[in-house]
Amino acid sequence: MSAKRAFNFNAGPAALPLEVLQQAQAELLDYKGTGMSVMEISHRSKEFEAILQEAEADLRDLLQIPANYKVLFLQGGATLQFAMIPMNLRPAGGSADYIVTGAWGKKAFKEARLTGTARAAATTEADHFNRLPAQTELDLDPQAAYLHFTANETIHGVEFSAQPEPPAGVPLVCDVSSDFISRPLDVSPYGLLYAGAQKNAGPAGVVVTMIREDLLERVPENLPSLLNYKALAAEGSLLNTPPCWSIYIVGLVFKWVKGLGGLQAMEKRNRAKADRIYKAIDESGGFYRGHAAPEARSLMNVTFRLPSEELEAAFVAEAKKQAMIGVKGHRSVGGMRASIYNAVDLPAVEALVAFMKDFQSKNG
Ligand SMILES: Cc1ncc(COP(=O)(O)O)c(C=O)c1O
Repeated sequence: MSAKRAFNFNAGPAALPLEVLQQAQAELLDYKGTGMSVMEISHRSKEFEAILQEAEADLRDLLQIPANYKVLFLQGGATLQFAMIPMNLRPAGGSADYIVTGAWGKKAFKEARLTGTARAAATTEADHFNRLPAQTELDLDPQAAYLHFTANETIHGVEFSAQPEPPAGVPLVCDVSSDFISRPLDVSPYGLLYAGAQKNAGPAGVVVTMIREDLLERVPENLPSLLNYKALAAEGSLLNTPPCWSIYIVGLVFKWVKGLGGLQAMEKRNRAKADRIYKAIDESGGFYRGHAAPEARSLMNVTFRLPSEELEAAFVAEAKKQAMIGVKGHRSVGGMRASIYNAVDLPAVEALVAFMKDFQSKNG
């Protein structure tokens, strides 16, 4: 492929592996002899059923998902999961606990309060979401319907390295949208995990939800079918027309991750990338300042500031001239954010680090 590709540091939708795009391109006009693209075949066809089954099997293999978990490919993004989780898992009159460590956890908490009671078991907002709470800081309700947290806060760049401990019998629920399949994850401590695909796993349009089967018994009968985990699970993600193309690409990404050696290899690669940028920040003598406390640093979204907003604007503009896209931070945090998901390779990170050093030498 001779196309000129950008160094893509977008936060999501984000970079996809070149090999996956090339395979999709090769299969675009005639998927496996059908004479149609995956966008044109029936979701009830044997070709699409195979795509769905393989995507699930490959994910089960990558994460070693226990047999008593359902894997669902849903729509509405992670944001609809914010609403569906309390609707499905919090009984009438019950309450759910939320650990709020950034913008996404805050949104999930807000959504849960629209339909019932939710408590903040902790919030680090007073510290501008630059750190994670210790287990001892958590004010946990032993009767909570579940305990929700956000594994990686995409906007603030803080990531849990170990999951918080819920009280006995309280299911742990986690938004893994921005660190999904970036490293090994033991699914067994969780009641439910969910991930919007458009960061590490594919295009927007599909969210992967993994739910322990016993929790399906909590689902109220009167929920609309498309919001009802039990109904969705019973139909194997085919309750209505699913986002076929997005599922197809996600399936190709799962195979790509497996081909690279699985999640341990992915973690090694992701750590090497993140280390390079954090080292550049730490060795800049204060020119670059990381937003996250060192022990909370995300492997996926590196957030940092420069000495002034003028320099930050110049950094973004200069980076763009060198085909580095997406380095501007979210407006709520300011500064820079480099999202270095699975498909961002080491040469892209090395190009960014070289650029950071060069920019500092000219402007420091
Ligand atoms: C951690 C996290 N949760 C939830 C969302 C919302 O995802 P969606 O836009 O798919 O609803 C995002 C999107 O960036 C995210 O990063």
